[in-house]
Amino acid sequence: MEEWYSAIESAGDVEGLEEIRIAVFGKKGVLAAEFAKMKSAPNEQKSAIAKELNIHKGRLTKQLSERKNILQTLELERAMKAEAIDMTLYSPTSSSGALHPVMETMDRIVEYFSMMNFAVKTGPMIEDDFHNFEALNLPKYHPARDMQDTFYFKDEMLLRTHTSPVQIRTMLSHKPPIRMIAPGAVFRRDYDITHTPMFHQVEGLLVDEEGKVSFANLKYILEDFLKYMFGDVDVRFRPSFFPFTEPSAEVDISCIFCEGEGCRVCSKTGWLEVLGCGIVDENVFDAVGYENVSGYAFGLGVERFAMLIHRIGDLRSLFEGDIRLLEQFR
Ligand code: DAH
Repeated sequence: MEEWYSAIESAGDVEGLEEIRIAVFGKKGVLAAEFAKMKSAPNEQKSAIAKELNIHKGRLTKQLSERKNILQTLELERAMKAEAIDMTLYSPTSSSGALHPVMETMDRIVEYFSMMNFAVKTGPMIEDDFHNFEALNLPKYHPARDMQDTFYFKDEMLLRTHTSPVQIRTMLSHKPPIRMIAPGAVFRRDYDITHTPMFHQVEGLLVDEEGKVSFANLKYILEDFLKYMFGDVDVRFRPSFFPFTEPSAEVDISCIFCEGEGCRVCSKTGWLEVLGCGIVDENVFDAVGYENVSGYAFGLGVERFAMLIHRIGDLRSLFEGDIRLLEQFR
């Protein structure tokens, strides 16, 4: 029997070991033959022979399974080495991607307002009439709705035309004070060099106790923000109209192409319009049930910022996915 112990010990692979197992334990194997021989042995020796054979049977079984474990581990290690991929290897043919200029600009805007402790809020792109218009002091049939003509579904649902509904959602779910921005996609039925049916906005809203929030606060933060985005520009506020703010203003920066001299991009005015803002209208606070508060709000188009920062001439080129444009921002 001894030779089988050394045979198992020197088996080089799982297949070889299986051959040994059959030779020992198979129907025509050594053990079966030894048990058969025992039958013709004298009766008084039978039990001693059987005992010895059973001891061998047990020890061989144990040794076989131990050797099998070792061989399987070795084979796995060998296979892993042979099929290994070096993930640190430099490939001269691969290229790395980059953020789309619109997303990169959005991140920078969010970064500024996060530094100023504004929370980032989001809302649904499929909105209802109440949040998108009604609560923002844009009643049904009000002509100001025409400026945001959009895509309607049934049951007064629509693709949101601006990020302003997130103001309403935030005020309805939180108590004042509020300090938030809402970045996201918005939709309108427009398509030309400066308009696409989908674009991105960042909305801002700050609400605190009555008398605490003034136009001066709004002016300060927007000037600081615009210098953060565009560098050392002049900023001017022009009176304007938005249904949800009173008073309202449009904000211009001095033209970054001609430095205020007057050129084609700024239509010879020396100024570029970049955002809308104002003091929150009382009707908006009434719609969300806020009392004894004051606040300011603002809204801007991210594509417009990206185009000015990167000097991109046609807004539509931001959405064509042309690799020649995108590669410049790697
Ligand atoms: N919602 C406006 C738009 O899409 C932008 C805007 C203007 C937002 C003034 C404001 C604001 O919060 O105060 O044209």
